[in-house]
Amino acid sequence: MIYFVAAIAGIAGILFGFDEGIIAGALHFLHNEFSITPLDEGLMTAAVPFGALFGALFAGPASERYGRRALLLGAAILFIIGAVFAGLITAIWMLSAARLMLGVAIGVAAMIAPLYISESAPAAKRGMLVSIYQLAITLGILGAYLVSFAMGNSWRLMFAIGAVPGMALFLGMFLLNDTPRWLALKGRHAEAQTTLAKLRGVSAQAPGVANELASITRTAAQDTGTAKWSDLLSPSVKPALIVSIGLFLLQQLSGINAVIYYAPTVLKEAGFDSHATQLMATIGIGVVNVGMTVVGMMLIDRIGRRKLLFIGFVGTALSLGMIAIGAATKSPSLDVLAMAGLVLYIAAFAASIGPLPWVMMSELFPQHVRGLGMSVASLANWGFNFLVVFSFPVLVASIGLGGVFAIYALVCVTGIIFTARRVPETSGVSLEEIELHLKSGHPLRLLGSFSMAAQAARSDQGAVEQSVGDVNETTNLIRAIIELGPYKAVLMPMAHEIGRVAHTNVQVRLALQVVSIRADFPRSGRLRRADLAGEASTLFAFLEHIRFASPDFLGSVGEWPVGGKRG
Ligand code: BGC
Repeated sequence: MIYFVAAIAGIAGILFGFDEGIIAGALHFLHNEFSITPLDEGLMTAAVPFGALFGALFAGPASERYGRRALLLGAAILFIIGAVFAGLITAIWMLSAARLMLGVAIGVAAMIAPLYISESAPAAKRGMLVSIYQLAITLGILGAYLVSFAMGNSWRLMFAIGAVPGMALFLGMFLLNDTPRWLALKGRHAEAQTTLAKLRGVSAQAPGVANELASITRTAAQDTGTAKWSDLLSPSVKPALIVSIGLFLLQQLSGINAVIYYAPTVLKEAGFDSHATQLMATIGIGVVNVGMTVVGMMLIDRIGRRKLLFIGFVGTALSLGMIAIGAATKSPSLDVLAMAGLVLYIAAFAASIGPLPWVMMSELFPQHVRGLGMSVASLANWGFNFLVVFSFPVLVASIGLGGVFAIYALVCVTGIIFTARRVPETSGVSLEEIELHLKSGHPLRLLGSFSMAAQAARSDQGAVEQSVGDVNETTNLIRAIIELGPYKAVLMPMAHEIGRVAHTNVQVRLALQVVSIRADFPRSGRLRRADLAGEASTLFAFLEHIRFASPDFLGSVGEWPVGGKRG
């Protein structure tokens, strides 16, 4: 079921890529039929990102109010009308109007589709499932290249064909419910429960459903007030905003759309002289883009977000450097270097920097501001996209293609530093745990990097059930903490059981996670009092609580004989 959900929402991504890419193929034939001034052409190109800016701005608050499903249905209708309208135009201003409409639809869909998938997915597969959205964008771009290649001069059909995925999106969304999280937020608990059960493929009475719903409802219950834009700057949300905007800034300023939009120009510089070979090579770029997105999808939940981002930024920085050197020196022998750089760049982008900002913006924001936060992050995506595409020709004219790609390479080097300093590991951590971490005031960067918490959450059983190896890791850390505090004689024999209890408490686990990283405990195996820092009070309060817990409670978590051992 969850794959069906992701596939339907993914159609929005196909429309995104298709409507972006199709103008390139049609432009040539439009020139034959209409007299098009440079201003017309500018308006036609700008209409999509401009409309998308509005779509993204409106989609955030509207999705909180009317729900994710309603907005995707609305976007689907706009996609259909826009595509048919573009196919029927009799004057060029009408095409700008149609593309403005498509732009609004793209802006809405680009934000709501990942949100819809993220709120429906189980934590362990969330990264892969949201990446389906990016895969769909790349399929849409490739589809547009292929349609322009196959349809010759039938530009009306090229535009109108976009109505078909539009209808599929409408029908699919019509059959689906809203997300369990949004339903819970609106107090529609019975619907939230049946939807969640359907998504997980189990009965509504299954214990897993009850646990997950309880956690969703608990978070929803705390979010009573209506969200305000200024909430995005509150201390518990700002770190999520910085990472989301930062990742989109880096994604766009890595120059991806300079390559996607101006591929033939770039290829010409790299030595592809005939129009036919340029077109074939452009399609080749589209294929690499799709293929490597699949590779990224397979890696994202397995090796984690941070590692994948590092690989992506190192790969793009190196490959952009290769293009820069190839383009700056006119020697034909270096054309091969530029071409290899181009393929490598698309590959590294598609597996990493392409999907990751979408994935992370859909999971980092706390629930009550998720819609607004994603609006702002999408705005950043469109704003920087616009900036790159419009500045590219001017920059090439003034500093040359080599210079421009050197700038993009530097941006990717900055990406390595940004990832190291700011980006948290969210792989396998539930949305509710991410929210709890933000509220705890601990640096966002430290989320999920503690192997036991991440591994625990990665298990399909949810965040609470642990494997034996993880418990041992916790127990070692607990032993070290007991060493530092009072009641050693009482607590030490219970260390194993205390470890198990610690695992089931998110607050304690987060504190352990921070302490472990601070002390580099998995490697050093040593802990000093100073390593406990701000976490000392939480951890000692927890130990104190255990010491005074009732024999019944202690008996229920372990098999050790309680009587006589307590101080
Ligand atoms: C970016 C788009 C880009 C596409 C290319 C997306 O993640 O946001 O701007 O055109 O990837 O595949």
